[in-house]
Amino acid sequence: MSEGEVTNADAALPPLRVGLLGLGTVGGGVVNVLTRNAEDIARRSGRRIDVVHASARNLGAPRICPLNGILLTTNPMDVVENPNVDVIIEVMGGMTPASMLIRRALELGKPVITANKALIAHEGNELFALAQAKGTVVAFEAAVAGGIPIIKAIREGLAGNRIEWLAGIINGTGNFILTAMRDEGRSFSDVLAEAQKLGYAEADPTFDVEGIDGAHKLSILAAIAFGMPLKFDSVYTEGISTLKTEDVRYARELGYQIKHLGFARRHENGVEMRVHPTLIPERRLLANVDGVKNAVLVWGDAVGPTLYYGAGAGADPTASAVVADLVDVARTLTADPNHRVPHLAVVPDQVSDLPILSMDDIQTGYYLRLTVLDQPGVLANIARTLADFGINIEAMIQKEASDETLHLPIVLLTHPMREAIMNDAIESLQALDEVCAPIVRLRVESLVS
Ligand code: NDP
Ligand code: HSE
Repeated sequence: MSEGEVTNADAALPPLRVGLLGLGTVGGGVVNVLTRNAEDIARRSGRRIDVVHASARNLGAPRICPLNGILLTTNPMDVVENPNVDVIIEVMGGMTPASMLIRRALELGKPVITANKALIAHEGNELFALAQAKGTVVAFEAAVAGGIPIIKAIREGLAGNRIEWLAGIINGTGNFILTAMRDEGRSFSDVLAEAQKLGYAEADPTFDVEGIDGAHKLSILAAIAFGMPLKFDSVYTEGISTLKTEDVRYARELGYQIKHLGFARRHENGVEMRVHPTLIPERRLLANVDGVKNAVLVWGDAVGPTLYYGAGAGADPTASAVVADLVDVARTLTADPNHRVPHLAVVPDQVSDLPILSMDDIQTGYYLRLTVLDQPGVLANIARTLADFGINIEAMIQKEASDETLHLPIVLLTHPMREAIMNDAIESLQALDEVCAPIVRLRVESLVS
């Protein structure tokens, strides 16, 4: 049998007809994976899955996939409203017109599969309610961590656990950049241009490097892990664009890697959600996740730590997640809507509106780099100032002055401390006469419990 030919696993069911909004990196990957693995996918779904109608802006543009047998249009609404389309895949990106198209598809009772984390993070609560009301679904496995089936793992595989916290490298572009800067000494802009060429970056790459994409994804993971509504606006976000190579170097000397980490933890009084560059002990598996790879560490009370690793971006890996959703949709189309896996892991009337902690209330370790004058008593003043705030120093390195200015770097790691206290301590350190440049502060996570 030739590649792509299908011995229909269940000839009784007609093919599932897919409308595809977007034929770029992910859309092209979806057509390729559906074509290449048609036989296996049909055996798993119980029917063939065919892309019958697709939209793009420029129909003359070169594509990474074959388009034979697919009706093409520049008007995505034609695809959504085509009565011969059973399910919609939205891989255009952006808020407009994607939001309007998805809403129309749901109004028509059509299941929607999307890789659009920005849209889910901002409008997911409303989209899920609309899907529920119309007896259909919005599936979004590809929206978080590319090809890693992390939504399914948390929502289904860990359903017996109380999830305490999760931490993830959830932006492939950012990790690709950090790795190449560290290992190859390449410039930020050079590596970013390569990530764009490889199709990893968002249409606006500042989403990747400023942590916005990571915050979109973290808000989705936290909502599912803790059974709460999506709260993107409450995620504390810092990017990697201001990260200095010397901090990467000093962190390594202290036994740490700097990763752009998303972190969410449930506390008695609320939930913390934050995305920022973070020092991770180099012996942790997460510290060794490099290039475009993503990984998410999830801590459940019953299972303990579990780690999920794989490609975080790119055509085929992302298509892997989209097609898995498609197979799920094909399997559940005949199931009673009230007995499907809930969008946010808990049944809709059990979603609880947990408070989000302010950054002042989070507790973590800190990396501080101070640029100081090379004169007697500097170290003593720094140590005294930190002691006044009850801050315990865990490790310290002092470097030689690198130029005639006699400015030298002092790098400190502290034990965990409330962020509000650390902010006050940094203000006092900054006011010391010997401190002659803005203090660099990074957060440290040991990721043990
Ligand atoms: P691309 O830019 O490669 O593709 C977008 C596609 O949508 C293109 O075919 C484009 O048409 C079409 N399109 C965009 N706007 C319109 C419009 N207004 N009307 C009609 N067609 C339109 O994006 P990606 O495939 O990289 O990303 C798609 C989505 O998947 C985004 O939400 C992204 O965040 C998400 N995602 C991407 C990943 C990746 O690795 N790239 C991984 C995980 C999620 P044309 O080609 O003619 O310009
Ligand atoms: N731009 C995103 C990333 C795509 O680099 O992780 C995958 O969501």
